[in-house]
Amino acid sequence: MSPRKIIIDTDPGQDDAVAILLALASPEEIDVLGISCVAGNVPLALTCKNALIICELAGRPDVPVYAGSEQPISRRLVTAEHVHGETGLNGPVLPDPKMPLQDGHAVDFIIDTLRREPPNTVTLCALGPLTNVAKALQKAPEIADRIQELVLMGGAYFEVGNITPTAEFNIYVDPQAAEIVFKSGIPIVVFPLDVTHKALVTKPRNDAFRALATPVGNAVAEMTDFFERFDKSKYDSEGAPLHDPCVTAYIIASDIFSGRHVNVEIETGSELTMGMTVADWWDVTDRPANALFIGDLDADRFFDLLTARLARL
Ligand code: BDR
Ligand code: CA
Repeated sequence: MSPRKIIIDTDPGQDDAVAILLALASPEEIDVLGISCVAGNVPLALTCKNALIICELAGRPDVPVYAGSEQPISRRLVTAEHVHGETGLNGPVLPDPKMPLQDGHAVDFIIDTLRREPPNTVTLCALGPLTNVAKALQKAPEIADRIQELVLMGGAYFEVGNITPTAEFNIYVDPQAAEIVFKSGIPIVVFPLDVTHKALVTKPRNDAFRALATPVGNAVAEMTDFFERFDKSKYDSEGAPLHDPCVTAYIIASDIFSGRHVNVEIETGSELTMGMTVADWWDVTDRPANALFIGDLDADRFFDLLTARLARL
């Protein structure tokens, strides 16, 4: 089978970085057409710089990287330096990138790519706030019918929230964008905190990254060393959750994960619960399913895959 063509929409972020590395290490299954950056974990200038750093770390300066939205659709940008550090990629010391950003806006790159490629052959992998994806749908509504699938990290049901008591970061930062996306009719696969909080980098798993003894293995281990302090102290967990790599692992081996087709609505009215993903996990409404909401994974298989693929870079 030929590899699946994807666009990675992202706000790196250490876990975004690992998701990108996994995709670039997996050419049999994944053809990365380009990376579109969005403001999220840190402001846009830094998410763009970090995406370039990661492409160079992977030895892939040929990957086109575009700058996208600097601000959410209608709210003030909220960032997460308290989790990811001032640069968004704190942990390893990595060289400043030499490769340039592409000319043009990430939203136009998404639209142009979907118009150019045959219908239903391009998958969007969204690892940050959904601003770029929603703006592309607003500007060119016809692309909704051309997207093969949108696989995104965002939301929570059982885990409720991480940035507020009821909201997960990516959805909270731009709930208006999330609402547009979840109402679009695109086939959506959601990786909420319910599953990503089970993808924990325990000490033996981080030792396995470090034991690769390569620049990539060391960088990923050092990113995780930094990133884990937040979740360890907050949740008393065994290590950092690798949220975003679940998305690219799904493209490679979807059977690692399981979930339910459910209705997901986004709270955009109440400040108290802004950005909440109201997932009808128990099927108690008549609202039609609009997403495959992932709830579980085989964590050992996930980490075995990730480590084996990182070893190739
Ligand atoms: C999500 O928010 C960011 O901090 C991570 O990169 C991930 O995409 C988890 O809530
Ligand atoms: Ca992210």
